[in-house]
Parts: sequence; C-alpha cells; structure tokens
Amino acid sequence: MELAKKLEGKIREVYEQMRYMLAVSGETIISQVSLQQFFSGNRGVDLLVSDVSYVDPFDGLHYRGVPLDQVMQKLPKPQGSAFPYAGGLFAFLLTGDFPTLEEAMEVEDLWKEKADIPDYVLNILRTMPSDSHPMTMFSQAILALQGQSKFAKTYSNGLCREDHWRVMLEDSLELTAKTPALAAAIYNIKYGNGSMRKIDKDLDWSANFAHLIYKEWDVQYQDLCRLFFCLHADQGVGNVSAHAACLVNSALSDVYYSCSAAMNGLAGPLHGRANQDCIEWLLKILEQFNGRLPSKVELEKFVWDTLEKGKVIPGYGHAVLRCTDPRFIAQYEFGKQYMPDDMLFQLVDLLYQIVPGILKKQGKAKGVWPNVDAISGTLQYHCGLKQLDFYTVLFGVGRMLGITANLVWNRALMLPLERPQSITFEMVKNRLHDMNDYSGMNPDFHY
Ligand SMILES: CC(C)(COP(=O)(O)OP(=O)(O)OC[C@H]1O[C@@H](n2cnc3c(N)ncnc32)[C@H](O)[C@@H]1OP(=O)(O)O)[C@@H](O)C(=O)NCCC(=O)NCCS
Repeated sequence: MELAKKLEGKIREVYEQMRYMLAVSGETIISQVSLQQFFSGNRGVDLLVSDVSYVDPFDGLHYRGVPLDQVMQKLPKPQGSAFPYAGGLFAFLLTGDFPTLEEAMEVEDLWKEKADIPDYVLNILRTMPSDSHPMTMFSQAILALQGQSKFAKTYSNGLCREDHWRVMLEDSLELTAKTPALAAAIYNIKYGNGSMRKIDKDLDWSANFAHLIYKEWDVQYQDLCRLFFCLHADQGVGNVSAHAACLVNSALSDVYYSCSAAMNGLAGPLHGRANQDCIEWLLKILEQFNGRLPSKVELEKFVWDTLEKGKVIPGYGHAVLRCTDPRFIAQYEFGKQYMPDDMLFQLVDLLYQIVPGILKKQGKAKGVWPNVDAISGTLQYHCGLKQLDFYTVLFGVGRMLGITANLVWNRALMLPLERPQSITFEMVKNRLHDMNDYSGMNPDFHY
C-alpha cells in the first residue's frame, strides 16, 4: 500500500524529533494550569499533541497546518463536483501531503473492497428496540465489529510495538470503509423498510452514503455529503469524541473500542448532538411565527427572551473559537448557492446578522460567533433528511476520519497510557496555602 509506505517515512521523522526533544528538554515546563482552568474541564490548557488538525481561536480549523478553505480547494475532486474525495482527505490527514488523484483513489478503492457489513451486525441493528437513538445504534454497530480487529489479534500474538501503527492503519481503513454503510443501515432500519443495498463502485465514499439511503438520484445531496463529511473530520484532539478515542486507545484498546467510545461522547448535547438541538430550535422559531420568517426586530426579541429564560442560543459560541467557524462559512456558501430561497436558510442568515451582537451585549459567552452546528442541520433538512435525531450520526461518519488518523499516529509515536493524576479538594486547598494564596479562602469555611 503506497499510503503506508509514505506514512512510514513521515513517522520515522516525527518520532526521531520527539525522542530528541524529550532527551534534551524532557524536564522543561511547557504548559501550566490555573485553578480556574482546573475546575473548568482544563479549558485552554495545552495538554495533548496532534498534527492532524488544530483549531486557531481567531482563524478556525486547520487540517495539517493548512486553513480549511485551502484544504477544500486543493484536494482532488470527482469529475463535475466542487467538493473533494474523502479518501484524499484521509490520506492528507495521515501524511500531511496533498495527495494526487491516484493517491486519493488508492484509499477510495480500498474502502470499496472493505465496505460490506457482516450480516450479524445488521441483525443486531434490526433487533434493537425501535426507539433506540441512532447514536446508540451507531456506537453499538461499531463495537459489534470489534471481533474483526487485526490489532487485537496480532497484539495477542506478540506484535512488536514498532509495528502497532501498521495494524492500526489496517483496522482504521476497515472501519472507515464501513462507516457510511453502517450509518445508512441505521437510517434504513430506523426510518425505512430496513432493506440494504450494495455500494455503487462508481461512486466515491461520501456519495455512496447518498446511494445507500436511496438518494442516488440527488447529485446535490452527494455534494453535500462530500462537503459535510470533510468539514466534520477533525477539530483538534481536545474535543470530547477525539479525546475519548485517544484515551481509550492509549490502553491499547483497538480502533473499534476507541471509536465506539468516541461516538458515545459525540452523542452528548454539548458536543455532536448540538446540531439536532439547533435545527429543533430553528423549527420552533418558524412554528412560533406561524410558518413565516420573522422580521429582524421580532427575532431580536425572541433571542433575548431565550437568553432571559437562562437558555443558550444553539449553534453559537465555542470552547475555543473566537471567530465565525470556517465550517459554518463553507456551509453558508453552499446554502447561498443551492437554497437561497429556503426559509430555514434565510432564518439562519438572519440569526447570523443579529445573534453575535446580542451575545456581545449580554457579555457572558466568550465566543459569540456561529459554529458548525448553526447551519449543518438546515442543509440536511433542505435536502430531505428530516429525521433530526440522525444528524449526529452524520457528524460521526465524518469525524471517524480524523479520529482514526489520530489513533494511527498515537500508535506510531508509541504514546503511552494516558493517566493524569487526580488530587483531593484538600490537596487543592493545601497547594493554595503552600503558595501563600489565601485570597480564595472563604473565611466562613473552616480550613
Ligand atoms: C459550545 C459551548 C458549549 C462552549 O461552552 P463554554 O466553553 O463553556 O463557553 P463560554 O466559556 O463562552 O461560556 C461562558 C458563559 O456563556 C454562556 N454561553 C456560551 N455560549 C452561549 C450561547 N450560545 N448562548 C447563551 N449563552 C452562552 C455559557 O453558558 C456560560 O454561562 P455560565 O457562566 O452561566 O455557565 C457553548 O458556547 C454553548 O453551549 N453553545 C450552544 C450550544 C452549541 O452550539 N454547541 C455546539 C458546539 S460546536
């Protein structure tokens, strides 16, 4: 496999660099944590390393050091489409080199060979209660594939550490190959008649999702899939899903265990489920205004009312970003081109004009700009995917690309078991005391 050969050279280089830095500067303090950060989910503390992607607070998502919009421009694309092959993005996330068309097709072709889902996994999905959340089904289906892990088998047979990444790569290709089909199976079982068709070998990975949910005729939706999956691939490794996967994987649990854990994190309302909350909120606004687009003044009042009830404005704010999310911009451009007259899209546009100003005025949220979720559901809804609880699965399909790329690198660098130390409240207090910092000590409490 050319991809593995290329990766081997890159890995050697980065590994040598890491070993050298550790040998020379191993004891140098490179990150610190304040008491505030300590009790705020380590927000903003530099604790993890990954070259796969980085989120700049003021410039947004970078894949492999390149701003998102440039990545989208430079990756190879199927004929007639303005949006890239996911196979090319996967190769780029792994190696950091923009792939040629042939290199992108190597991944796409490998995926086609491995796309079939075993019948037992489909049967598990079919026998789950009909009210199971699609994310539960997704996580369950990934876990059910675990028996296929080459890593788990070869590890038990004494695979040497230096070769862990090779089998992680094989497992990652195997799982990512199946991901659109797993999502489509869940979609067809939960909302359709449960039938499952084979992938179309003439279509790429992203467009095959459209084909598998019987929307093969919808070229616009194929493009939306290409855009959506590429935009959702990674967002640094500090986010809950990627971090969960890396944490689980650091115990040498294989790709299936790690990605199932990632999807459980993605299912949370403060993470991937936010796209569902956001579209529900948008639909509620239209319902409140009897199906018409509210005026700017009416909408401003509605947003203030929402805030005054102590609720958040879905799709706005971010743990890291302090600018409009480039993933929002990319989808906004798509909406402007393909659905400018769609009322939901017009509502998104109107909110974009007023919400940042209102959040600034309110003065609570550190990030006031729209994130990826402020619009992603609107585009899906326009294209006919109206099952709102499915949107997080779509997020998960894309996210699997970045997560698995990170897992391969973690094994390549032989990163050890993650094991931060936890301390007691008493110890926190004693540390403040030792540093002569008594300002945080409440005189009403007995220390
Ligand atoms: C994304 C999010 C969870 C980030 O959380 P965070 O890092 O804690 O954000 P901040 O540090 O800016 O939060 C500071 C305060 O502003 C509030 N805030 C943040 N975003 C807000 C929003 N969109 N609307 C109203 N208030 C908001 C927070 O609730 C917090 O209030 P508190 O001090 O009373 O708890 C948060 O912005 C949010 O809930 N947004 C809406 C949901 C969403 O879009 N999620 C998808 C993220 S990709």
